Amino acid sequence: MLSKKVAVRLSTAEYQVEIGRDLLGKVGRIVAPLTEGARAVVVTDSQVGPMYAGAVMESLIEVGFETSAITVLAGETSKNWEQAGQVLDQLAEAGLERIDLVVAVGGGVVGDLAGFCAGVFLRGVPFVQVPTTLLAQVDSSVGGKTGVDLAAGKNLAGVFKQPRAVIADIACLQTLPDAEWRSGLAEVAKSAILDSEEFLSWLERNAQALLARDEDVVAEAVRLSVSFKARVVASDELEFGPREALNLGHTLGHAIEKVAGYGVYSHGAAVAEGMRFAAIAIAVAVVLGGTALALASHANTLRSADLPGISTTRPHSTAALPSPEHGGGPTPGLSPDSTSVAPVGDPKNPASATRPTPQLPSGVVRPPSGSVPTPDPERPDEEDDHEVITPDIREDDPSDDEDVHEPESSPDTAPAFEKDSE
Ligand SMILES: NC(=O)c1ccc[n+]([C@@H]2O[C@H](COP(=O)([O-])OP(=O)(O)OC[C@H]3O[C@@H](n4cnc5c(N)ncnc54)[C@H](O)[C@@H]3O)[C@@H](O)[C@H]2O)c1
Repeated sequence: MLSKKVAVRLSTAEYQVEIGRDLLGKVGRIVAPLTEGARAVVVTDSQVGPMYAGAVMESLIEVGFETSAITVLAGETSKNWEQAGQVLDQLAEAGLERIDLVVAVGGGVVGDLAGFCAGVFLRGVPFVQVPTTLLAQVDSSVGGKTGVDLAAGKNLAGVFKQPRAVIADIACLQTLPDAEWRSGLAEVAKSAILDSEEFLSWLERNAQALLARDEDVVAEAVRLSVSFKARVVASDELEFGPREALNLGHTLGHAIEKVAGYGVYSHGAAVAEGMRFAAIAIAVAVVLGGTALALASHANTLRSADLPGISTTRPHSTAALPSPEHGGGPTPGLSPDSTSVAPVGDPKNPASATRPTPQLPSGVVRPPSGSVPTPDPERPDEEDDHEVITPDIREDDPSDDEDVHEPESSPDTAPAFEKDSE
């Protein structure tokens, strides 16, 4: 398989996302020209490290880096302030200098944690992402959002830290547990829904091949998702407008993760549940408005992709659980009449309840005015899910080896309107 490249071009950074097979052994050669540094510290987790960190470290040694590794416990519970402090101490002990490299080898947890540490250590050192989950390859490794969870909420402390390169080896994905695989599919479905009818129908046609982890189809799903995300991020690097669309389903998803306890439900499973909620909300709005029928098919896409869901009967550590149609039933504390899971506002932005709806860019698909009830100011998150933004679609030639995404010269940004984010 030839590797595919997607270029991310932002006002503050420019980098390549390389997607292909057997790329771990090439990490050293890819990153060597990207820094003058002599040291590289690999940050990984206890599950990924023994499988994949060795190959990455060998490739770094081959091109002359002095390397060491920091391993955190696998799972969301490692994405916290205390753990970040320990990683920062270890970077200092390793003698990392301003030009040296942090290499994240793992899923979204490792990427967010290592990226955050690379963003604040010495006020920023070069950083590379080697994502090993589907979710991280299609979403979290691209766009520069990094951070850790606080007791008050998910991703509440963080910085924007763009990587110098993203190297997505799809061969790693064969060892992903099934629940993690389906969590990643939730993010692919999110991208397809937000991007275009073309991506959506591609996903519907290839859903079975994706579930079977057909590598050519997986590589294309990663390319399409990354291309979409690169376009959105290029138009709104710091999430003041269109990028908020990437948070589809995340408000309810994050509420589920927080209420259940971090690590009980996987991020992807919680977001898939949030997207189901959003799809129903949209379908209701469509019925009320009697237009934009295409939106109603989004619920079908979520079904055909066999996305994970949360159990309504029992929690499950770090893994997605069967959705109701896959055998789940009601969960204590997460029942529809439970007040504890109702999102009550964005802790990052208490003023959001009173802010106006942002001005959306062209391509927005929104239920007609008057078709959606006025958002309840006590549940501001609801308006999040009524808006589905489809950024301008650029025609990508699938045969192209490289997609380039540049920032818009004068982005049509909206007033700040922060929400729970990717
Ligand atoms: N920064 C962003 O833009 C962004 C976007 C979406 C999600 N996120 C964050 O990403 C996190 C979720 O990421 P995730 O789903 O990758 O979770 P994760 O990093 O916890 O990985 C899931 C599990 O899979 C294991 N694993 C990883 N790669 C493997 C492989 N190749 N083979 C076998 N096991 C493997 C991990 O050890 C872990 O146990 C959340 O914290 C979420 O907030 C960030």
